[in-house]
Amino acid sequence: MGQIIDGKKLAKEIQERVTKEVSELVRQGKKPGLAVVLVGDNQASRTYVRNKQKRTEECGMKSVLIELPENVSEEKLLKTVEELNQDESIHGILVQLPLPKHISEEKVIDTISQKKDVDGFHPANVGNLFIGKETLVPCTPAGIIELIKSTSTKIEGKRAVVIGRSNIVGKPVAQLLLQENATVTIAHSRTKDLPEVASEADILVVATGLAKFVKKNYVKQGAVVIDVGMDRDENNKLCGDVDFDDVLEKAGFITPVPGGVGPMTIAMLLMNTLKAATKK
Ligand code: GUN
Repeated sequence: MGQIIDGKKLAKEIQERVTKEVSELVRQGKKPGLAVVLVGDNQASRTYVRNKQKRTEECGMKSVLIELPENVSEEKLLKTVEELNQDESIHGILVQLPLPKHISEEKVIDTISQKKDVDGFHPANVGNLFIGKETLVPCTPAGIIELIKSTSTKIEGKRAVVIGRSNIVGKPVAQLLLQENATVTIAHSRTKDLPEVASEADILVVATGLAKFVKKNYVKQGAVVIDVGMDRDENNKLCGDVDFDDVLEKAGFITPVPGGVGPMTIAMLLMNTLKAATKK
């Protein structure tokens, strides 16, 4: 029977560590600040942003929300980002994705100052991650590594399989696992014999965006299973990309949805904001 990895508890511990460091910085007159830019009124984005803001404030950091209408021009959004780049009270900038179709996400990400890019999406930060240079790392992948380490599993020498190749999760988490000296495979929708490939993994990271996609035939006995999904099942109940009930028995460790990867993403955002503020 697999042990459930408590992402909520781990995220709380990280937040407490960040809070302590922030209070020391505030004492020195250097309050860290995070600006979140929200375009349009996507309900899911709004909920994520509200949570990010709440946690930022709980840590004693400055939190600024900039809301722009759905029909805002790309030019106006880029100007907003440039102003935040210049603002000395702001150390982290996060533009919530997805953006409306008339705006180039690539242009927006390129415009965010590399030093304030707490999402770790800027090409310069992505490049640094690729060559193993100290940098701002995307939050969900960083959180996944912390979750694996919390199980006391040694990553070095292990077989890791990542299902999903997005720029936000799949590719960066594969890089981080490689840095930890795992042998890494990135699988995806075109991978042949996916259950066979996945079931070779000592560490299986699932980011397909498909509800309950991974069943027990994808899982090696005793594997660490990390579920990045945030989906709805047939009864509209929140679930992950892993069929939790089917896989629990076979896994060594498994993250639940909710309460696994989700809370860790915000915890790592707080860490990145702190990091950006202390690097200044
Ligand atoms: N939308 C969904 N996840 C994320 C994320 O990690 N960062 C940003 N900026 N937008 C998102």
